[in-house]
Order: sequence, then structure tokens, then C-alpha cells
Amino acid sequence: MTTFRIKRYNPEKQPEPYYEDFQLDIPDGSTLLDCINLIKWKQDGSLTYRMSCRSAICGSCGMKVNGRAILACQRQAVSQVDKDDTVTIEPLGNMQPIKDLVVDFEPFWEKVHKVKPYLQTNEQPPEKERQQAPEQFRLIDDSSTCIMCGNCYSDCNVLEVDDNFLGPAALAKAQRFVSDSRDEKTLERVTELSEPGGIWDCTHCGECVERCPKPAEPFYRIKEIMTVALEQGVHNNNGARHALSFANSVKASGRLNENRIPVESVGIFNIKGLMDLIPIGIRMLLKRKIPPIFHKSIDDVKDVKRIFKELGQ
Ligand code: SF4
Ligand code: SF4
Ligand code: FES
Repeated sequence: MTTFRIKRYNPEKQPEPYYEDFQLDIPDGSTLLDCINLIKWKQDGSLTYRMSCRSAICGSCGMKVNGRAILACQRQAVSQVDKDDTVTIEPLGNMQPIKDLVVDFEPFWEKVHKVKPYLQTNEQPPEKERQQAPEQFRLIDDSSTCIMCGNCYSDCNVLEVDDNFLGPAALAKAQRFVSDSRDEKTLERVTELSEPGGIWDCTHCGECVERCPKPAEPFYRIKEIMTVALEQGVHNNNGARHALSFANSVKASGRLNENRIPVESVGIFNIKGLMDLIPIGIRMLLKRKIPPIFHKSIDDVKDVKRIFKELGQ
């Protein structure tokens, strides 16, 4: 028998969530969703969750299993059993639970709508379709596979502390249009996406790539938008300045100049930003964390410069 420890929540009956254990013999070949269905159909009909396609297509059955967001219909149940013969199932994170495993997707959809997830052009539509070459489509192929399951949103570390962050799914959707050869608002898009709450607030943790059940893999899409933003000259923000300072430092000396990067990231004429750095500098000084004043290049810096040259940088 395997224990399915499921987080229950029904605000009409009890204000606090709680865990309830169900015992089940996992039938051969059953997915986790099959097991949850058996629990609902045979043990407790009040258990509430979303599901539809049972084929990893509709994106409905996202839930946290043993602490990580997955699609319940995409995994064999036996693969999720821990060493105590238990599977712990909770609602997706970073969204408010409504009942049991059902969460409120409203903030998720608001953020998707914010990135204007539709083609924007300056001209009237042609009589027939707008054409796109296969190599142009390949640039947006991966982001087009997103099924809006919310797994990436659930486990994004930034969203845990910053509601303002657009989040991985909305940014993957944004890349779908930033890199679309038919869209004519690329500059406007990357300018908006470079504002606070956008691409540069991602911490590059990569969790959304691990959690994504499709090739959409949002962090890689975020990096693609960053590249387009830099190519389009959208540099007037801390994130872009930080990326450029980072690259320039490595190019010049083979290592990071940790005294320059914070200053160049806030902007050397940004008096308020520079003043804000002073308390951090003092704390670093007191903890003896100040990098060496005189920055030294690595011995083989010429090899680093050669790599940059070969990359055309
Ligand atoms: S890589 Fe960025 S978007 Fe993805 S989970 Fe981490 S912080 Fe969130
Ligand atoms: S990017 Fe991946 S994990 Fe995020 S909503 Fe789309 S399919 Fe789900
Ligand atoms: S039920 Fe559709 S993705 Fe799982």
C-alpha cells in the first residue's frame, strides 16, 4: 500500500488547510492522475482538482508532488513514491488555493495578458495569410509549445517574494512575439519587458526549465528576449547595464571586477543609485568582503580576448 498524503482545503468548512492520508495499491502502469482519480471515485468524492485530457496536452493537472510542480497525468505513479512509500501532493505554488488542489489562476492570466500575446503590425492584414519561412518559425517554435499549465509559475523563486514579476510563462509567451518575424513592435515590446518586473528580474535559477513539461523552457526564452533587448539598444536599465558591465569585465581581464560592476549596473551618473550602494559597501567592509582595490587580469587573458573576437564581440 502506498500513502497518498494530499493537502486538503475547503474554506467553507475549515479555514486552515490540512493533510489527509489515503492508502492505495498502485495499479500496474497507472499515472499519478489515475491514482488520484481512484481515490476520488472510490474513497472520497469531495477531493477537488483539475484534469481534462490525461495526455499532457491541456495543462490542467499541474500540482506539486513531493515539493515540485509536475503534470499528474504525465508521470507514472510509482516514479513519485518516496522512500517512506508516500507521495505528497499539494496545490501549485505562488497562487492562492481555492479548494484542495485547485488554485486561482487569475494573476497568472493577468500577467500573460500584460505581455500583449498577439501579433502587432503597422499595416492592414494581407488578403491571404502572413507568410513565415521555416527558419523564422524555428525561432518561436519552442515558446509556441507552452500549454499554460502554470508549473513554472508555481516554482519560480522570484514570484515567491515579488508579485510584480511577470513570471516565466508570461515571458515565454512574450518571446513568442518578440521573435516573431511578422510582428512589428519588437522595440516597444523589449522596452516594456525591460522595466521592473520584467526580464531583468529573473535570477537565472533555471527552475522553470526543470518544471516545464514542454520545450517552452521559459528561462531560455527569457535569455533570448534579453539578447534582442541588448541588440535593440535598450540599455537604460540596471539589468542591461549589469549584463554589459559583466561581459566587458570578463573581456578586459578574464574575471569579474566586483568593484566596478555594482557602480556600472546602477549607472555612473545615477547619484541616488550610487548613494544607495554606500550602506552595502560599509557592511561588506565590516565583514571583510571588499574585493581587492586593484583589479588584476588572469594570466591567459589573451585567450579570453580571442574568444570574444571570434564571437564578433
Ligand atoms: S529562471 Fe527566472 S523565471 Fe525561471 S524560475 Fe528562475 S527566476 Fe523564475
Ligand atoms: S512555460 Fe512550460 S511550465 Fe510554464 S506554463 Fe508553459 S508549459 Fe507550463
Ligand atoms: S489532464 Fe491535461 S495535461 Fe494532465
